[in-house]
Amino acid sequence: MKCLVIGGGGREHAIAWKLAQSPAVSKLYAVPGNAGIAQLAECRSLPLEGDFSELLNWVEAEGIDLTVVGPEAPLVAGIVDAFQKRGRAIFGPHAQAAQLEGSKQFAKEFMARHRIPTARFQVFDRPEPAREYVRRQGAPIVVKASGLAAGKGAIVCKTLQEAEEAIERIMVAREFGDAGDRVVVEDFLQGEEASFTVFCDGERAVPLASSQDHKPIYEGDRGPNTGGMGAYSPAPVVDEVVHRFVMERIVTPALRGMAQEGRPYTGVLYVGLMITAEGPQVLEFNCRLGDPEAQAILPRLDSDLVPILQAALEGRLEESLFRWRPEAAVCVVMASGGYPGKYRTGFPIRGLEEAEAIEGVVLFHAGTKREDGQIVTAGGRVLGVTALGPTVREAAERAYRACSKITFQDAYYRRDIAYRALQRS
Ligand code: AMP
Ligand code: GLY
Repeated sequence: MKCLVIGGGGREHAIAWKLAQSPAVSKLYAVPGNAGIAQLAECRSLPLEGDFSELLNWVEAEGIDLTVVGPEAPLVAGIVDAFQKRGRAIFGPHAQAAQLEGSKQFAKEFMARHRIPTARFQVFDRPEPAREYVRRQGAPIVVKASGLAAGKGAIVCKTLQEAEEAIERIMVAREFGDAGDRVVVEDFLQGEEASFTVFCDGERAVPLASSQDHKPIYEGDRGPNTGGMGAYSPAPVVDEVVHRFVMERIVTPALRGMAQEGRPYTGVLYVGLMITAEGPQVLEFNCRLGDPEAQAILPRLDSDLVPILQAALEGRLEESLFRWRPEAAVCVVMASGGYPGKYRTGFPIRGLEEAEAIEGVVLFHAGTKREDGQIVTAGGRVLGVTALGPTVREAAERAYRACSKITFQDAYYRRDIAYRALQRS
């Protein structure tokens, strides 16, 4: 069968890498892909917006049987609806279901309707009432652009002044464009974060291995948030009690609620959690795999991904389809210095082969491209250097050994990925 991966980051390289191992896949494609994905798939650059007709014409001409969508933007824009209208199999939620990520207002009001635990909140469409609310509530408090903002629209404010500035940036300066038409202001939650991901077939959900990412740019989880500077799996904070709570009190009511509201959910549902002293609370829903979490989770999945995707599309997902390797995985993101702010690209990357020769190591490309026969940097997050190991500690050691072999100008990575798991062991 011919499979297509939509997207061009580390997550999509991990999906393509997993699909390439399937005996069912005869040919792999990616739109747009990157230099790493190009080693496994034929890459094309086609528009991922509007009515998706150019993409669909090409999919039909190539006879592509199954499409997997990596990022949220095409899902929210209706790529699944467009494919289904033309009878093409595609894994992901349709646009109405993807609103769980596309609109934080929708997600928060949905959680309130279905009594899913989440921070207390208010939604505002004008800055003045939002300012009055934060003054009444006091700090710390969290101000979020309601729409899609590439993971950067949530601002945790330690002081009232920061909260007023956040409202200003989102609603007045419109740093995130239309995503800031509305803000969600919510209570600050204290605890440890974890990512809980499930595959859904409209009715049932099967959990993937747990994971944790590191969003801030600096060690010790300090500094501005990025898309994620590293991840590991499993996350010990998701113990059996947390797991059961999340399935019973969050995932099951969410799937039932979406179906009841006429938005049955098929695809990946990612639950961003804060494990507080009072129990797990939902920080956010995403309608796709986490990045870099997927780069730590997928190498641990022992089973073929294709039958899982087919079962999800046919409404017959079950836990027995998923077999997990006992090893832990750690993914360290190597980024361009300056990210998440301004950075330069186009620098040759050296040492990839040497890094990949280390036992247990898999390299996922994020912002890379091939130029004049060599692989060069082409984005903020450049590589996801991933390793499997018998324990999180050994996986981390291998990943860092691999990082030390890779060089490019301005390379930056955090040296403390997985520290929370290591502190527990
Ligand atoms: P979000 O995009 O809503 O997941 O927020 C991005 C990040 O901001 C989260 O991963 C948390 O680190 C932080 N965050 C979001 N909401 C809260 C909250 N209510 N309390 C504390 N931190 C939060
Ligand atoms: N790593 C966080 C996310 O994918 O949203």
